[in-house]
Amino acid sequence: ATIHDQKLHRGAGGELHQFAEDGMPVLTTAQGGPVSDDQNTLRLGARGPAVIDDFHFREKIFHFDHERIPERVVHARGYGAHGYFETYESLAAYTRADLFQRPGEKTPAFVRFSTVAGSKGSFDLARDVRGFAVKLYTQQGNWDLVGNNIPVFFIQDAIKFPDVVHSVKPEPDRQFPQAQSAHDNFWDFISLTPESMHMIMWVMSDRAIPRSFRFMEGFGVHTFRFVNAADESTFVKFHWKPKLGLQSVAWNEAVKINGADPDFHRRDLWQSIQSGNFPEWELCVQLFDQDFADTFDFDILDPTKIIPEEILPVKPVGRLVLDRMPENFFAETEQVAFMTQNVPPGIDFSNDPLLQGRNFSYLDTQLKRLGGPNFTHLPINAPKCPFHNFQQDGHMAMRNPVGRVNYQPNSWNQGPRESPVQGYRHFPAEEQGAKVRLRPESFADHYSQARQFFISQTPPEQRHIAAALIFELSKVETPVIRERMVSHLMNIDETLASKVGHALGFKSMPKPADAAMPTRQDLEPSPALSIIER
Ligand code: HEM
Repeated sequence: ATIHDQKLHRGAGGELHQFAEDGMPVLTTAQGGPVSDDQNTLRLGARGPAVIDDFHFREKIFHFDHERIPERVVHARGYGAHGYFETYESLAAYTRADLFQRPGEKTPAFVRFSTVAGSKGSFDLARDVRGFAVKLYTQQGNWDLVGNNIPVFFIQDAIKFPDVVHSVKPEPDRQFPQAQSAHDNFWDFISLTPESMHMIMWVMSDRAIPRSFRFMEGFGVHTFRFVNAADESTFVKFHWKPKLGLQSVAWNEAVKINGADPDFHRRDLWQSIQSGNFPEWELCVQLFDQDFADTFDFDILDPTKIIPEEILPVKPVGRLVLDRMPENFFAETEQVAFMTQNVPPGIDFSNDPLLQGRNFSYLDTQLKRLGGPNFTHLPINAPKCPFHNFQQDGHMAMRNPVGRVNYQPNSWNQGPRESPVQGYRHFPAEEQGAKVRLRPESFADHYSQARQFFISQTPPEQRHIAAALIFELSKVETPVIRERMVSHLMNIDETLASKVGHALGFKSMPKPADAAMPTRQDLEPSPALSIIER
C-alpha cells in the first residue's frame, strides 16, 4: 500500500474518513471537498493577481462575511446554561401542566441571563435589569418563562415598549451612552412616565448590580393562570429564589469590575458550572383567586405591581439546577429563541396588557433575528417531546412532512390529528366591553408600591438608592428633567427627594408631581424651582 492509501479509512457506513499527514482529519470545504492549502489564495504566479476559480477562498470568505446575525433588539448581551427542573409535588389541583404532575420528575431546561440595554459586547456590571429567561422542554411542548430579576416593569402597556427601549439605548445622533441609563433621554422619558416609578426604585437599588447570576432572583412579572383538568383557573405569579441567597456588589465595585473584567458574570457562571458548583433556584408560586385579587386597591393585571409576599407567601414547587455549559455559544445561547407565548396545556395568560403585547412581539422578532420561520428546527429551540404537524418548506427547512399528506382532514388516514382532550384549551374567560384605548382607573396609583419598596430597604440600601439617583440625575443636563424626577420622588419619600434635590443643587423642593402627567411637557423649569446655577 502507498502512504496515500494508509491515510484513508472507510467507516461502518462505507463513508470515507480522510486523514492529513499528521493523522488529524483532513480540512474540507462546506461541501465536503478536501483542501490542500489553507494558507495561500490561488494566484496567477506567486506575485500575481488572485484568480476567480479559487472556490475554496470564495467559500471561506463568503461564510465569514455572513457570520453575524442581528443582535437581540433588547437583552443583546446574555449568557446561558443547560440544566433541569425537578418537581417537588403534584400541582394537579391547580394545573394540568404535565411537568407539575409527578414529584421527582425532571424536565430539561435552558436558561439565558442577560442585561437589557447594552449591546452584545457591553460590560456585565452595568446598572440594569437582568433577564432571567427559562426554557423548559416539557412533555407537552416548550414552556418559556421569560422573566427578569425585578418583579415589576417600567410600563403598563406594551405599546410603550419601543419608547422605553429607545429612551434607554444610545441617543440616535451621538450614539452614546452605551449600556448606561444615566442620560437625558432616559430620564426625560421616565420623568414623563409616572407608572415607571416603582420599577425605577428597584433599578436604582442594589438589585440592578447583582454580584453574579447565581445570586439573583427571577420573576415571571405578570399574573398568569394555572388551569386544571376540570378547566378551573387559579391566578399564579412565578418567582425564582436563588439557593445561594441574594447578593449585589456596591456601585464603586461595579465600576471597577467593569473596567477590570467586563465578563465578570460570564466568567462566574462558567467557572462555577465547570467546577461542579451547580447553581440552583427554587421555583415558587403565589396562587390566588379573583376574590383575593379584589381585596387590593391595585390591579393584579398591572405589571408595575407586586403582591407582597407578607400578604401572600410564596410556595416552593420545584427546583432548577444548571449543570452544563453550552458546547457552542452561538448555536445555543445566541440562537435560543424565547417566546412568552410558548405555554403548555395548564398554563395560560391573564389580560395583563404588557403580557398580551409580548405574546405578539417575541414570535415576530425571532422571525427577523433568526432569518425565517424554521428557527424551531434548531436543536436548542426544538421540543424534546414527539411533535407532528404539516408545516413545510421555507428557508433552511430541516424537517418536512414525510409521505403524501401535508394537510388535514384527509382521506388517506395519515398524519397527526387534533385532540380536544389532550390539546391546548384556552381558558374560556368571559370578556365583554367597548373596544377602546383606555387605561383602567385601577392602574392609576404609581407611588404606593414605590414607597413600600423604598421603606422596605435597610438604611445602607436606602443610601445606595439615593446615591444612584444622584449619580444618574447629575449626568442629566436639562434642568427640567431633574426637577420632574425630584417631583416624583416627593410622592415616594420626601427625605429621599430632599437628599437628591440638595445634592443636585436645588434651593427649594418642587411640588409633588401630578400622577396623571401629560406625555409632552414644557422644557422650561417651573418658576417655583430655583436651581443653583453650576
Ligand atoms: C427579549 C424579558 C417586556 C420584547 C427579552 C428577554 C427577556 C425579556 C429575559 C431576553 C430573552 C433571551 O435571553 O433571549 C422581558 C420582561 C418583560 C419584557 C420580563 C416585562 C415584564 C417586553 C415587551 C416587549 C418585549 C413589552 C414588546 C412588546 C422583547 C424582544 C426581545 C425581548 C423583541 C428580543 C428577543 C430576541 O431577539 O430573542 N425580554 N421583556 N419585551 N423582549 Fe422582553
